[in-house]
Amino acid sequence: MNAATWKEKLSAIRDSFSVSIAQKPAGNPGALELHYLGRKGELALLLRDLKDIPLEERKELGALGNTAKQEMEAKLSELKGAAAGAAGPAAKTDLDLTLPGWPFPKGSLHPLTHVMNRLAEGFLKLGFTMADGQLIEDDYHNFEALNFPPFHPARDMQDTFYVDAKDQLGKPMLLRTHTSPVQIRSMEKQDPPLRVFHTGRVFRSEAVDASHSFAFHQIEGLYVDKGVSMADLKWTADAFMKDLFGSAVKTRFNPSYFPFVEPGAEVDMSCIFCKGGANAAERCPVCKGTGWLELMGAGMVHPNVLKGCKYDPEKWSGFAFGGGIERFAMLLYGISDMRMLYENDLRVLKQVQ
Ligand code: PHE
Repeated sequence: MNAATWKEKLSAIRDSFSVSIAQKPAGNPGALELHYLGRKGELALLLRDLKDIPLEERKELGALGNTAKQEMEAKLSELKGAAAGAAGPAAKTDLDLTLPGWPFPKGSLHPLTHVMNRLAEGFLKLGFTMADGQLIEDDYHNFEALNFPPFHPARDMQDTFYVDAKDQLGKPMLLRTHTSPVQIRSMEKQDPPLRVFHTGRVFRSEAVDASHSFAFHQIEGLYVDKGVSMADLKWTADAFMKDLFGSAVKTRFNPSYFPFVEPGAEVDMSCIFCKGGANAAERCPVCKGTGWLELMGAGMVHPNVLKGCKYDPEKWSGFAFGGGIERFAMLLYGISDMRMLYENDLRVLKQVQ
C-alpha cells in the first residue's frame, strides 16, 4: 500500500465513524468502539498496515492515525457518558422521555390461538364451560370408553402414536388422536346435566401434506341433559357456524360413522367462497364444486359411552360434536396450505391483529 491509499483509507474510516456516531447507536457505544478501535477494529488494522510503508512517510501517517484515534476515543467517551447519564437520576442529557418511541413491531396472536379463542367465546355464550384434558392419554379414554373395542377396525381411522409408557391396565399410553377423550374425563368428574367444551392439540401418525399434519388442533363440545335430541344438536351446530362465519351460512348433516355416537353425522357448511352457486359452473375449487365444506363430526352420544361413565342412558341423552381448528383458520384467513400455519411466516401471522 502506498501513502496516498493509506490516507484515503483513513479518511474513509473517519467519515463512516462520524456517520455512525451521528446516529447515536442507542445505548451501545461499546459495539462502535469494538468496530473501529478494537484489536481487530478498522483503525487498528489500518495502523498495522503502516509497516509496509517507507519509514520517512510512516512518521507523518502514524501521527495522522493517532490524531484520528484520539478524536474517535473522545467522541465515544462523550457518547458513553450520555448513555450512562441518561440512566442515572441526575441525567444531564437532551434525552426527552416524553417523546414517542421508535415504531416497535407489535406482536399478535397466532391465527390458531385466535380461532380457538373465538370458538371458545362462541361456546361460552351458549352456556358451555371449558373442560381440561391431557395430551398423553391412556387407551381407555382415547378409545375403549369411546366405544372403540380393541382390534375394532374403527381404530384405523386414527393412526396412532404410542409412547414408551404403560397405563394402569398395562396398555401402552398414546398421544391423543382426538379431543373426544375429554368427553369421558368430563363425565367421570361431573354428574349430569353437563355442558362442556375443549380445544387443544391432537396427534396422528399421518404424512404431512397441504391438509394433514402429525399434530393439529381440535374443538369438541358435549351436552348431556334430560331430553337432549338431534334437533338440539342441529340448532347448536348451526348457531356455532353462524357465529364464526356469519349468519348467511347454512349447515347440513350427512349420515356418518363414529363409534361413540349414534346416529352419527358429518356437519357441512355452505361454501363461504362461491356461496354454493346455483350450478356447478358457478362453484369453486375449495368446495370441489359441491357448494359444501365438510367441517365437523357430530352425533348423539352412544348409550355405551354414557353407561361407561355411569350415566343412565334411559334417563339422560346428549350430543357431541368436534372438528379441526386448522380447517376453520384456513377458511377464515384464506390460507390454502395447512403447513403455512406452522412456518411462522410473518405475512401469514400478521393477518391477525
Ligand atoms: N373425534 C372425532 C374425530 O376426531 C370427531 C367427532 C367429535 C365426531 C364428536 C363426533 C362427535 O374424527
